[in-house]
Amino acid sequence: MDYSMKMFAAARKAGVTGIVCTPHCRDPYFDYQKMWASYHTFKRNVGNFPVLMGFEVAYQKLVSLGVHEWAPYLGIQGTDRFLLELDTNATEDTFKGYETVIYELQTLGFRVIIAHPERYEAIRKNPSLARRLIDWDCELQASADFIAGGRLGNSKRSAKTLLKEGAYSYIASDAHTVNHYSLLSRSMERYGSMLRSR
Ligand SMILES: [Fe+2]
Repeated sequence: MDYSMKMFAAARKAGVTGIVCTPHCRDPYFDYQKMWASYHTFKRNVGNFPVLMGFEVAYQKLVSLGVHEWAPYLGIQGTDRFLLELDTNATEDTFKGYETVIYELQTLGFRVIIAHPERYEAIRKNPSLARRLIDWDCELQASADFIAGGRLGNSKRSAKTLLKEGAYSYIASDAHTVNHYSLLSRSMERYGSMLRSR
């Protein structure tokens, strides 16, 4: 919690006016009760600052938990949004499976946000695959680290291609440490105006 409060201070300094907490729903991190308990403590500590609970839900984990059983507990609190993370090494073939799960989530009433498409290998090779996600009525969210070349390998080029096409609706801090917030400020300053209006 000490470190969370340091991150909160860094977020405010970067101009953040509201936070959606999105702990990983992914092996081996996922502990639903503990995550909610931490969130409640955090919310008490930040007073009136707007915060919401949600999850960054990994496709594989969601499938293993059961989409219909678990999805209702994993959306972004008080909204109809669901943050879905695909496999980093996704291939064009894997997208067929994604379509089924995205459709199931939509049937449950969710609007699906796809986390950091710029990182997925298939999209890095073929950015037009991102268009397919938009055609399936998903919103795309960039992770701010692309601006520094990407935390998990080079995602800057694919992010810039998608930005130019107006494919993104959001840029997320995706902050795991205090200094990630400076990447958010930099990418919002530079590319914030290229986001789709919602
Ligand atoms: Fe992620």
